Amino acid sequence: MCGIVAYVGSKQCQQLMLEGLKRLEYRGYDSAGIATIDHGKIRVVKTIGRVANLEDKLETVGAMRGTIGMCHTRWATHGGVTDFNAHPHTDDKSGICIIHNGIIENYASLKTYLEEKGHRFVSQTDTEVLAMLIGELYDGDLEAAVQAALRECTGAYGIVVMCEREPETLVAARKGSPLMVGVGDGEFLVASDGSAIISHTSQAFALEDYQVVKITPQGFRTSTIHNVPVTPKVQQLEIELEEIELGGYSHFMQKEIFEQPKALRNTFRGRFGIEDGRVVLGGLADHAKELVKAKRVVLLGQGTALHAAMIGRYLFEDLAKIPATSEFSSEFRYRNPMIEENTVAIAVSQSGETADTLAALIEAKDRGALALGVINVVGSTIARETDAGVYLRVGPEIGVASTKAFVGQVAALTLVAMWMGRRRYMSADQCSSLMKSFEQIPEKIERVLATDEHIKKVTQKYVDRENWLFLGRGYNYPTALEGALKLKEISYIHAEGMPAAEMKHGPIALINEGMPAVFIANRGRQYEKVMSNIQEVRARGGHVIAVATEGDENIRKYAEDVFYVPDIEEPLSPILTVVPLQLMAYHAAVLRGHDVDKPRNLAKSVTVE
Ligand code: M6R
Repeated sequence: MCGIVAYVGSKQCQQLMLEGLKRLEYRGYDSAGIATIDHGKIRVVKTIGRVANLEDKLETVGAMRGTIGMCHTRWATHGGVTDFNAHPHTDDKSGICIIHNGIIENYASLKTYLEEKGHRFVSQTDTEVLAMLIGELYDGDLEAAVQAALRECTGAYGIVVMCEREPETLVAARKGSPLMVGVGDGEFLVASDGSAIISHTSQAFALEDYQVVKITPQGFRTSTIHNVPVTPKVQQLEIELEEIELGGYSHFMQKEIFEQPKALRNTFRGRFGIEDGRVVLGGLADHAKELVKAKRVVLLGQGTALHAAMIGRYLFEDLAKIPATSEFSSEFRYRNPMIEENTVAIAVSQSGETADTLAALIEAKDRGALALGVINVVGSTIARETDAGVYLRVGPEIGVASTKAFVGQVAALTLVAMWMGRRRYMSADQCSSLMKSFEQIPEKIERVLATDEHIKKVTQKYVDRENWLFLGRGYNYPTALEGALKLKEISYIHAEGMPAAEMKHGPIALINEGMPAVFIANRGRQYEKVMSNIQEVRARGGHVIAVATEGDENIRKYAEDVFYVPDIEEPLSPILTVVPLQLMAYHAAVLRGHDVDKPRNLAKSVTVE
């Protein structure tokens, strides 16, 4: 979603703010803007398009001067993609300037009130309404005006505000939209993500909901919107620069696909007690008794995270013998879900900020469920809402198309299912043997990655086709959905994923001469049935691309092209079978000339409904 970077200190800040903003480009946006206070006057420059467009515009209109400022990338919600609607926004009275992530839900009534007071708006945004409201309430104290304005607002916000009449002060506040404050020596940065801060300081704290911070070069003060002082915990940011740089790869998505073996080694580290067949998950220890008594697991997520959750459903049923369901969190939150006693709700999320997943988890928690998180971003909002959880530890995921987080989510869910299964039905031997297979996964992924050139060549053959099918059964039905999602989100090819058996119930009508149909056809319980489905596609002229188990020569009789993956127990297989699908989507997007890391209309984390 939108990105925020702001600075106050002693340095000229245009360049360092823009560098930070570039680190947030992966989040997805459609316009960008910057403001500084130069000799007591606010100057704003903004434009639709990329940060590079903003830099071009600055070359034309002249660079920004000033040691205090803010910049922003906007992903349109209220009002179209125009220069006027881009941030920062200013008020028409008090010299207020603001950038904002989130949505002010009651903006319409606030706007009517402000229009009656004589304010005139130049944009269609909710953010300009907030700027005007703060200006209206400003009486010489910016912090107090921001607090008072936010007490009138409903919705979500991460904001940074500055004012001409207090030219050394930034005020930032948060509710539901993350904000970090980087603490340097006589200088401070505010950003929506630690990656925009890390090259300046590794000391930072996260604002909590309803908190406000007033920052000057001399220091900061944190309070609530009701002006109750609070003391934040300044901590070391756990981000390495190399994790957020391309390091020789062409795109972050490509880097993250190739990083998967390393990422999973981190997910596993210290979590396998092979000797006594026990999975070690410190994050669950305090709730062991409740987890052992669990009668149902409800897995919640969206997009790729939902696909991981769907695999989780099979895992909990197979390994822990607990009834499990997986749900779109966006649907769950607005249903009237039945939460029986001893239900465990598991939020699956890379960012830990997905608005629907957060709301669904809170709904489940309010109805008595124990709330677990399978989350990547440490300290994220969802992680903080949970009672317990397991972090993925796959490192920052920058590519909008989720790859390493998916394998991390499936791996972490497998560990949770094993942890619960071992306390219920699994023997130490069963658990140890599965852990040993788990340990081989990174090396097995490396073997798949080594076939990248072949995958690229096969992709080249089909890249002009506009309609694709992805089919799988059992554990690899969600993998089929994930393969289709990967292809469509970055290459803009229409792709549908479904259970292979479902095809006969309608979608088979789509199959025509040469239509690519990707089958996940690894060896497993339903192998023969998948073979039958493959033949149904062949009989209608479809071209079959199969993901199959190494050594399966039989498949060549039925499939035009084959991507081999090493053999592995079925519950672990999606972690391998997804890899060729990720690579195929990546190559398709590159071959079609798309910007893989910044797909159109998409944002990395969806913090609005
Ligand atoms: O941060 P989350 O895992 O909660 O995000 C959920 C989805 O928005 C996300 O998985 C999305 O579908 C992926 N970017 C697709 O690659």
